[in-house]
Amino acid sequence: QLILDTLDQFSAIDDTRTLVIPGQTVPATSQDAQIAILGALNSLQSREMISYETRETSSHALTPEGAQIALEGSHEARVWAALPVKGEGEPVGVQELKRKIGDEAAKVGQGRAFKNGWITKESSGFVKAASSIEDTTQIELREIDSTGTLKAGEKALAELRKRKLIVQRKGQWFTVRKGPNFSTSIAKPETDLTVDMLTSGSWKSATFKKYNFEADGIPTSGGAFHPLLKVREEIRNIFLEMGFEEMPTNSFVESGFWCFDALFVPQLHPARELQDTFYLSDPSTSLRPPEDYYKRVATVHEKGGYGSIGYRSPWSDEESHKLLLRTHTTASSGAMLYKLAARCRGETIDEHGDVGDPEGDTRQSVEGDGFRPAKFFSIDRVFRNETMDATHLAEFHQVEGVVADRNLTLADLIGFMRVFFKKMGVTDLRFKPAYNPYTEPSLEIFAFHPMLQKWVEIGNSGMFRAEMLEPMGLPKDVRVHGWGISLERPTMIRYGINNIRTLVGHKTSIEGVETSPAVMF
Ligand code: PHE
Repeated sequence: QLILDTLDQFSAIDDTRTLVIPGQTVPATSQDAQIAILGALNSLQSREMISYETRETSSHALTPEGAQIALEGSHEARVWAALPVKGEGEPVGVQELKRKIGDEAAKVGQGRAFKNGWITKESSGFVKAASSIEDTTQIELREIDSTGTLKAGEKALAELRKRKLIVQRKGQWFTVRKGPNFSTSIAKPETDLTVDMLTSGSWKSATFKKYNFEADGIPTSGGAFHPLLKVREEIRNIFLEMGFEEMPTNSFVESGFWCFDALFVPQLHPARELQDTFYLSDPSTSLRPPEDYYKRVATVHEKGGYGSIGYRSPWSDEESHKLLLRTHTTASSGAMLYKLAARCRGETIDEHGDVGDPEGDTRQSVEGDGFRPAKFFSIDRVFRNETMDATHLAEFHQVEGVVADRNLTLADLIGFMRVFFKKMGVTDLRFKPAYNPYTEPSLEIFAFHPMLQKWVEIGNSGMFRAEMLEPMGLPKDVRVHGWGISLERPTMIRYGINNIRTLVGHKTSIEGVETSPAVMF
């Protein structure tokens, strides 16, 4: 306001050090005052009410030693003053001089006083050689103390700087002119152009705040993919670029038949027991699967066939018809392979898995046994009644791949997995013989984890058994290999999460989901 009023009165301020700041104890000439003035100038300039130019000054101030000399005189002058005029008194010895004016002043002052021709030495001590002296050092320092500079000029200043009696201070001051929007009152500038301003026409006279192109924008809000979905998308893309077809996996509820029996999992298998599998109570039983296929599956369990002796234990219809939450997506793989086999025979299957009229199927084959190689994948949710801990929940996602072709070998499976995992960025793989009721041989897949510096199990795989494939009606020389990994494990590793509850469930931070980057394996 002071600046605006002064400008209004005199139309320009040539030197902001001349401003009289009311009620201020710091003089306007001080740097603190100029810094405060600069703040006000910047804010007025941003409104184009004023414009200003910066001027640099350099001034000098006394050091503590310099201040003492300004007060008491230079060392040499004090030496001179302490001595008697030649012939008028006892010459003063060094010890006595030190006692009179102090060690430091006596030592330094003596030499200079000699050089100036102010004193001489007699046999018993020092006496004055000049009857009067002019203490220029003191006079100059007093001038600097009151004006900040010396009329004598830079050479004298440099000499005093060298003697560490003064220091140079840089300072700023400003000249101020009126700007295009000059006014004596600071109007709060408008930040938004409103409908009211447009209709009333007040926008014409309003002042608007200048647009700040440097300002950070407000982050836009919007939907975000959960890390699991981002990783799922990446894995899905790997499958798609390798020519895989996505299986329908919307049947969270399956029957014991499709989840276990069709895969040649024995009816007495421990995984089927209540502690591993969630069974449904209402409805508790499934629709019947295709009758002839059902019979072939029951027979291979009870009595064997296709070169197998079977499990030779009684078959339970009830066990087969129980409804449950699927424990693996291999239930879907089995159903897809069954459909593939049915297609070979020229049958079509409707969405419930029932065999229907063959005439509508445009994909039915014409030559030979009608088999066509197939590659399927799925990434979806499965359920297991597990003890929950930092890495286990009762539901998780399985990534599953299945390849069906004639005369595939174990080497094909291993080679295929090397390619697949390489696309996920996993290159160090080891395979360990394992057991699955539906595959023989079976392999557990281990990968070397560079951050953990150890081998971790990442999946399970194998070649599906004849007892599973042949009852479906697939040609005898068709081999199918498959593998499954979890979606959660690579996601947790990729995002550095060590507790599954920070990834899934009510403790998941929405902000974390929004800001987590889309990752590349
Ligand atoms: N279903 C198996 C599992 O739950 C994974 C698997 C799929 C193994 C296909 C072999 C073949 O771990």
